[in-house]
Amino acid sequence: MSTKATVEKLVSLCKRRGLVFQSSEIYGGIGGFWDYGPLGVELKNNIKQAWWKAVVQERDDVVGQDAAIVMNPTVWRASGHLDTFADPMVDCKECKKRFRADALVGEVAASAHGHEAAAEVTRCPECGGELTEPRMFNLMFKTYVGAVEDDASVAYLRPETAQGIFVNFANVLTATRRKLPLGIAQIGKAFRNEITPGNFIFRDREFDQMEIEYFVKPGTDEQWHQHWVEERYNWYLRLGMRKENVRVRQLDRDELAHYAKDTYEVEYLFPMGWSELEGIANRTDFDLRRHAEFSGRDLEYFDEETGEHIVPFVIEPSAGVDRLFMAFLMDAYDEEEVRGETRVILRLHKDLAPIKVAVLPLSRQEKLVPPAREVWALVRKHWMSQYDDAQSIGRRYRRQDEVGTPLCVTVDFDTLEDQAVTIRERDSMEQVRVPIAGLVAALRERLEE
Ligand code: GAP
Repeated sequence: MSTKATVEKLVSLCKRRGLVFQSSEIYGGIGGFWDYGPLGVELKNNIKQAWWKAVVQERDDVVGQDAAIVMNPTVWRASGHLDTFADPMVDCKECKKRFRADALVGEVAASAHGHEAAAEVTRCPECGGELTEPRMFNLMFKTYVGAVEDDASVAYLRPETAQGIFVNFANVLTATRRKLPLGIAQIGKAFRNEITPGNFIFRDREFDQMEIEYFVKPGTDEQWHQHWVEERYNWYLRLGMRKENVRVRQLDRDELAHYAKDTYEVEYLFPMGWSELEGIANRTDFDLRRHAEFSGRDLEYFDEETGEHIVPFVIEPSAGVDRLFMAFLMDAYDEEEVRGETRVILRLHKDLAPIKVAVLPLSRQEKLVPPAREVWALVRKHWMSQYDDAQSIGRRYRRQDEVGTPLCVTVDFDTLEDQAVTIRERDSMEQVRVPIAGLVAALRERLEE
């Protein structure tokens, strides 16, 4: 995290500049749901694209898919979600606030009196009122499919995209005629009725996941697990995250999910402390075995080298787009003094920046409009760009710095004479003059190489 970033500053910037809005805000909002505005959707798409490029496009052992959100409910029985995807919940009898009992223990344990209180939390941390006994609360959103609302029509919004991959394992294997190791990647919505959503977009009730189920031969799983931990950690660094703010942690045995043999987390140093960005789990053969059992289908793989039928093991790197969005913003946020004023900059990696190039005529003077519009037409065929002619040039640079635009192109009165424009770089604020005829090449050199 940048030392200057706070959640409050980020929330305010996100709202003011159209990155993130509270969902249905005009009706008072709804907890745990967020909308992404014009710049937010660009950043979000760029995160997804950077991930897809690294894990699908640039590899020869991973393919993509896109499964439905609502699945046959037996999927959730087989996966264990109906029985185990629950958090303990307590209510305050006085102020009626609701808490996750396990998080409450963590909160109190982290406080000064933790050693006394961690064992059992019976009092509300907000008002001191008495808490109810913990009750298990399943986090899956329920719905009904079809016109009749009865037990037979109950379905669930998926709490993870992963199961859509497991149930398609045999389809993808047959259709692609691939051999192991084979990864299947997917990006899509997931829904969890979190008891306490919060910390801006960190814990939501609706969010996007980017997941890979990487199917390997048993016995090679540990080596592939290490491979994916390194790959995923390095991806964050390649996209400019500061090394001191991102770490890998191996989970303790008592932290593991019911399906996992071993799990590592990539964590980010948020203002609330080190928190999970991505989990990289060794799910063993748990899911394929369960789906084979519940569906009655053969989900084994024939290993031509050994002549044996095997149930593949699975390594699962699983990241949340919204959390990454928040972390990349936190990390990129900076403030510096320039000529007695505070300049707010998002030092986002160029691949992530929502707008790559801003075209700015020096003024609204009539003569400058046609060449400036022509330059914009040239640029926007290649990159997401903006045209801005409102207020002073200094203010317009600041507006672009604040949303992380790596390059500004200024069209001035000299342009009318020399057919050249000025490229201004966000971080260094350096300016270079280039002929319009060479502008696209000059921008490409800075944005794509
Ligand atoms: N398939 C495995 C799985 O879903 P998880 O650790 O529960 O594992 C994976 O979730 C990732 O999804 C997390 O690392 C996080 O980035 C994101 N995620 C999970 N719950 C979330 C929530 N309520 N809001 C936002 N992101 C969430």
